[in-house]
This record gives sequence, structure tokens and C-alpha cells, in this order.
Amino acid sequence: MGGFVTVGQAADVAEGQAKKYDVNGQEIGVARVGGALVAFSDICTHRGCNLIDGGEIDGTTISCECHGSVFDMATGAVVESPAVEPLPVFGVREQDGALQIEV
Ligand code: FES
Repeated sequence: MGGFVTVGQAADVAEGQAKKYDVNGQEIGVARVGGALVAFSDICTHRGCNLIDGGEIDGTTISCECHGSVFDMATGAVVESPAVEPLPVFGVREQDGALQIEV
């Protein structure tokens, strides 16, 4: 069973931005979308590029700089190919100001 792991301060993730965290060897992105925190794998399911480094956030989506795949950060769903597999997503919460990811 996984549990929530504190990775930093929730205030560090500003609206419209994403930050990358290493949680037990997993590279996980956290973004704030419409005030809500979302957490998703930072590894593009197409060919494994990192999304946050060089990717572009547009509303609820993030694009991959390598070949242009676009993913929904809240659901992990593919919005634009060439990727076909969705991103894994994770539970995320703010607890007394701490940012916690469920892994
Ligand atoms: S590795 Fe991300 S679109 Fe190809």
C-alpha cells in the first residue's frame, strides 16, 4: 500500500506552473490547475522525454517538447498524439501547508 510522502511546500507550486519531484525514484510533476493540485508522471509515454523540462503548460494540459504530444495533467489522458498511452497520475494533497504525493 502506498502512502502520502511530503515533498515540499504546497505554496511552492504556483497557479499555471509545474514543478518536478523525485519520489522514491519516480519523477513526478505537480501543477496547480484552477487552484487544485494535480500530480502526474513527468516521463512522456511516447519515448520517455521529461515533460516539465522544456514542455509547455496551457491551461490543464502539458506538451512534450520532443515530438509534440499533449497530455491532460489531471487525468493523464492523451490530448494529442503521437503518444497513445496516458500518463500515470498520482494522489496529491496539501496538509498544513505541506505538499504531499501519494506513491
Ligand atoms: S517523447 Fe514526448 S512526444 Fe515523443
